[in-house]
Amino acid sequence: MRGKTGVLFGLIFISLFLVAAKYDHLLEMGEKTVKSSECNECHKAIYGEWSKDFHAKAYVNDPFKRGSKNYTATECIACHTAQEIADEKNLRARPVHKEEGINCTTCHLKNNMIYGPYKLTAKHKAEQDESMLKSEFCSGCHLPTFQEWQASGSKKTCQECHMPRSEGKSVQGFLLSALVPKRMIGQHLMSFEKLLMEAALIKGETTRGSVKISLTNRGAAHHMPTGKYGDYRIVLQTQVKEGDGKIIFSQEEIFSTLKKNGIPAQKAVTFEYPISLETGKRYQVNSNLLYQVEGRPDQLIAKWNGEI
Ligand code: HEC
Ligand code: HEC
Ligand code: HEC
Ligand code: HEC
Ligand code: HEC
Repeated sequence: MRGKTGVLFGLIFISLFLVAAKYDHLLEMGEKTVKSSECNECHKAIYGEWSKDFHAKAYVNDPFKRGSKNYTATECIACHTAQEIADEKNLRARPVHKEEGINCTTCHLKNNMIYGPYKLTAKHKAEQDESMLKSEFCSGCHLPTFQEWQASGSKKTCQECHMPRSEGKSVQGFLLSALVPKRMIGQHLMSFEKLLMEAALIKGETTRGSVKISLTNRGAAHHMPTGKYGDYRIVLQTQVKEGDGKIIFSQEEIFSTLKKNGIPAQKAVTFEYPISLETGKRYQVNSNLLYQVEGRPDQLIAKWNGEI
């Protein structure tokens, strides 16, 4: 029995080794770097998430095309389609498949080796790099945000909020998925509805003479919004209406990466609006918080309703 099992495991081991060699082209860099669709042959679920992630749009999105002067500004391209993870000064562009922006090989390939957080027997060669689970991993490209995160003293890493883990398989497909066990997998879609909906809290207080609205960044361990590039906005809209719906007061506060006035982590800002009301009438107060990024639909991420 034992001998047979030994032989069987030996065969499996040898075949795994042979198969690994067959996938050595995945480790090529420079002009020969593979497209992410090659990883999609096996990592279908992760590929599906990444293709919806804005990292995958980092090169093709319109604001970038315009901002980089139709792809002539090389310093922009070095980061938006980086060959590999490096600190800000050492980022350089991948010479091929630029349209894939920040792709699988950007984050997983260096020194002609695929790195992952575990120590798995993959179809291809792979080595373990536990630093992938730390916020420092994101800091080469997201330096200002990383510094805000450090200052916030947050116990959660970038990955814990933006790549929440859940149990699943890292590969899909006939036979292959039957051979690998379930494990904790990090989601590859970094900006998603649930995260945005938990980002902020609006509280209001009304008196006959004023409306006081406070907005707290309770969900982001960095400024809200964060970043030094692009135009990310959080817009607080407050309206006071009479019973018949007539708007008697309307005000908009804009927090944006362009204005550099993002709300720090766990901090609140308060606005007090003086309002003159007629005695005997009732009024509705509505505050809405919108998440606005150029070229994307606005998203309502928090609200508060009150009465006077
Ligand atoms: C090689 C550079 C690079 C690395 C490494 C990187 N990012 Fe990004 N990230 C970018 C760029 C460029 C964008 C802008 C994408 C776009 O054009 O919308 C971006 C955008 C984002 C966004 C915003 C998406 C949106 O709504 O526009 C989040 C969230 C994010 N990154 C999180 C992370 C996290 C977490 C990590 C680490 C696990 C990470 N990034 C690693 C370059 C990088
Ligand atoms: C912005 C950087 C980034 C990009 C782009 C990226 N990954 Fe990842 N990947 C990570 C990080 C960080 C982890 C560790 C996440 C965790 O386990 O918490 C990871 C984990 C993995 C794992 C191990 C299973 C898991 O989720 O922990 C696989 C497999 C993987 N990635 C494949 C891919 C493939 C295939 C692509 C392209 C379709 C891709 N990755 C794109 C950063 C990235
Ligand atoms: C022929 C199938 C196949 C292809 C193609 C493939 N992988 Fe994998 N990969 C695997 C298998 C199998 C594992 C182990 C999965 C497990 O045990 O959960 C794995 C594991 C990984 C891991 C985790 C390694 C670790 O130890 O943490 C990463 C990261 C990864 N692959 C990235 C990639 C990238 C990037 C590409 C494309 C350049 C790619 N893979 C292409 C089959 C494949
Ligand atoms: C405690 C959870 C949490 C942690 C930790 C966290 N983020 Fe975020 N992140 C958020 C939330 C919530 C948003 C959306 C609200 C906002 O605009 O800030 C966000 C938005 C972003 C955006 C999009 C721009 C924006 O402000 O909308 C980027 C880029 C980003 N995060 C990068 C990072 C990086 C890099 C790290 C680690 C240094 C990190 N985040 C750590 C929760 C988190
Ligand atoms: C060091 C890496 C890096 C460099 C260099 C860089 N960017 Fe970015 N870019 C990012 C990151 C990260 C984001 C996500 C928001 C943030 O953190 O600023 C981003 C977001 C953007 C966005 C918003 C994308 C969207 O979906 O709306 C635009 C536009 C943009 N960058 C243009 C540029 C231009 C133009 C240059 C050159 C002048 C440039 N970037 C250079 C990392 C970089």
